[in-house]
Amino acid sequence: METQSLEHVIYASVSTQDFGAPQLTELLEKARVANERAGLTGMLLHTDSDGSFFQVLEGEPAAIDHLLQKLSRDVRHSHLTILIREPIAERAFADWTMGFASVSPEKLRKISGLNDFFSGGSCFTDLDAGRAKRLLVAFSEGSWRPKHLGAKSTAA
Ligand SMILES: Cc1cc2nc3c(=O)[nH]c(=O)nc-3n(C[C@H](O)[C@H](O)[C@H](O)COP(=O)(O)O)c2cc1C
Repeated sequence: METQSLEHVIYASVSTQDFGAPQLTELLEKARVANERAGLTGMLLHTDSDGSFFQVLEGEPAAIDHLLQKLSRDVRHSHLTILIREPIAERAFADWTMGFASVSPEKLRKISGLNDFFSGGSCFTDLDAGRAKRLLVAFSEGSWRPKHLGAKSTAA
């Protein structure tokens, strides 16, 4: 049971460099250590088709602010667009210092309620708050979840 105030922020961004498996692994390894220390949890989606990111960060407002400042200075991505920031009653990714999934356009087009959006060639930075929530729900409750690394119990 958490007593401090909790928020989540959901943002999208576009990578400015090639993010293959080695780059993503390095990013996630560092992020998970830092997030554990800062009390942050969440998940990161990356599309290999257009290189855009979608990230959910959960934690105390000050910890989120601190990381957002770093993220906005990080030259490995650009067009950082905050889609949602609001208080939450509990974490959706309590056991994840940073979950991760690489998603194909086919997978995105199969998400109920987002088929038209992604079929039209839109990317994460085009999402509005409502669509961002749909994607969050699809990820947190959907069949993708158990397959991905980043759970605190996972050694990855
Ligand atoms: C798409 C993306 C997601 C990131 N996610 C995190 C994260 O969850 N936690 C984190 O500490 N750093 C994350 N980073 C790295 C930060 O931008 C930054 O490099 C890191 O916090 C180290 O900052 P520092 O060198 O100023 O200490 C991410 C970077 C990118 C490009």
